[in-house]
Parts: sequence; C-alpha cells; structure tokens
Amino acid sequence: MDFQQSKTKENLARSFAAECQEGARYQFMAKLAQQEGYQYMSNLIRGIAKNEMAHAEQFFNKINELGGANVHNIDVKAGYPFQSGTLAEILQLEANNEKNSGENIYPGFANIARDEGFKDVADLFDMIAKVEKTHQRTLEQLHKSLKGNCLYKCKTGEHAFKCEECGTIILGKCAPKTCPLCCLPQGNYRIDFSIN
Ligand SMILES: [Fe+2]
Ligand SMILES: [Fe+2]
Repeated sequence: MDFQQSKTKENLARSFAAECQEGARYQFMAKLAQQEGYQYMSNLIRGIAKNEMAHAEQFFNKINELGGANVHNIDVKAGYPFQSGTLAEILQLEANNEKNSGENIYPGFANIARDEGFKDVADLFDMIAKVEKTHQRTLEQLHKSLKGNCLYKCKTGEHAFKCEECGTIILGKCAPKTCPLCCLPQGNYRIDFSIN
C-alpha cells in the first residue's frame, strides 16, 4: 500500500503527537514530585519523559523515512488527555494512559501496519507497547506506595536504604526523615519496589 494513502501514516502522526504530549506531562509531573520533596521519584519520572521523547523521535523518523519529500504537513484529528490533580492522582491517571497505549492503542496500530504491509512499523509499535507496559507498572507502584505512605517503609524486615545524593546506606525498617550525612530529605533516598 502507498504510505501517503495509508492509515499507518495517520497513526504514526497521532502517536508522535501523543508521545510529545506525554513527554511534556511527565516533565510537569517530575517538577511536582520535586516540589513535594520526592527527588528520587522525580528522577524516575524524568527518565520516563526521556523514554517518551525517544518514542516520539522514532515515530517522527519513520514518517520521514516512508513519506520522504512528500510529507510536509499531516492533519491529525485525535483526542488527547488533559487531566490534572494531586501527585498521587496523576500517577494513577498516567498509569491508566500507559495501560491503554500498551494494551490497546499501539497493538491495534501494529495490526493495521501489518495489514497494510509496513512490517517494520508494526514491529516499532509492538516494541514501544512493551515499554509503555513497564511505565504502567512503575507508575502503579509509585501510586500504590505513595498512597499507602510506604515509599520508604519495609514491610518484611530490615532494608538497606540508600541516599542517592551522598551514598549513605541506612539499615532499618524505614529510610530516615532526613539523611544523617547530607541532611537532605527522605525523598532523595532510592525507592525500591521489592520491599512493599
Ligand atoms: Fe511512549
Ligand atoms: Fe510511556
């Protein structure tokens, strides 16, 4: 099928737009986490924002590779989320968005690309869908731990809590409220999902 006439071209453009917006929303979220004292969480979220921009770049490059000089402008009509809330609320909202991308939208786009004969695009959608599922899990775990007030509590006994700022390791059931060495708040300690 001719790329210019394909549904895949439109899906790539929609996905590019979605990834750019996700990258922006995760940067907003990272800023909020930082403002609330969760520096380590903020860094994790910035890592996700970086992933989304890498996805956007792949979609952008694919459009140019397949469309060549014929692509100047693509009109996209699609719905995009504009939700806001507390840090815990947006962690859950974005987890749901990731679930939808990873389980429905990208696998669907992959099937269409395969039907239209764009195997490499189908593979790209499938690979990115897998990453979105990992984002979903990270955001769900952060949401659950933040809401349950157990980001820095070990339910199963003692844990080695590490300050990512100065490297101090504290053995105990909880990370200290402030680091005894660098005096920065608890939010600078590494979050380990295996403990709760
Ligand atoms: Fe993405
Ligand atoms: Fe994602």
